[in-house]
Amino acid sequence: MIKIVKLNDLNSFARDFSSTLKAGDIILLNGDLGAGKTTFAKAILSSLGVKDNVTSPTFSILKTYQGKFTFHHFDTYRITTEEAIEAGFDEVLSDKNSIKLIEWSENISELTPKNAIVVNIKKIDEQTRSYEIIR
Ligand SMILES: Nc1ncnc2c1ncn2[C@@H]1O[C@H](COP(=O)(O)OP(=O)(O)O)[C@@H](O)[C@H]1O
Ligand SMILES: [Mg+2]
Repeated sequence: MIKIVKLNDLNSFARDFSSTLKAGDIILLNGDLGAGKTTFAKAILSSLGVKDNVTSPTFSILKTYQGKFTFHHFDTYRITTEEAIEAGFDEVLSDKNSIKLIEWSENISELTPKNAIVVNIKKIDEQTRSYEIIR
């Protein structure tokens, strides 16, 4: 499924997407810098009851939030698979009780399951992105 989404419609698009999620799901957010990975993650978390201010986990690598589910939001831009394992992220990823959202998952591709939900985001223009969702 590919959908063209304007920034104004992002929250309702994220709400629809979020309504399909269940505990244990792993969502791979793919796209260039500035595509909208963090923005989409924020919209998903907000629609599922996270009240905290969600910020990019680029520096911290992992941020955990509580809403309707426990969420782990990763940005693995700066790390390798070996470092991810050392940090115990493989255990976090295999936790069946939480939802994981991962930016730059290609850096830890050995650790992400084949059945992950893939979201490919591409910039169309300033306010518009295409979202391809592969389940
Ligand atoms: N339709 C859209 N969906 C998501 N982000 C959008 C959209 N239109 C514009 N943007 C903007 O694009 C930027 C994306 O930044 P960010 O989410 O941090 O990207 P990434 O995490 O992929 O590097 C934000 O400033 C956001 O407001
Ligand atoms: Mg980001």
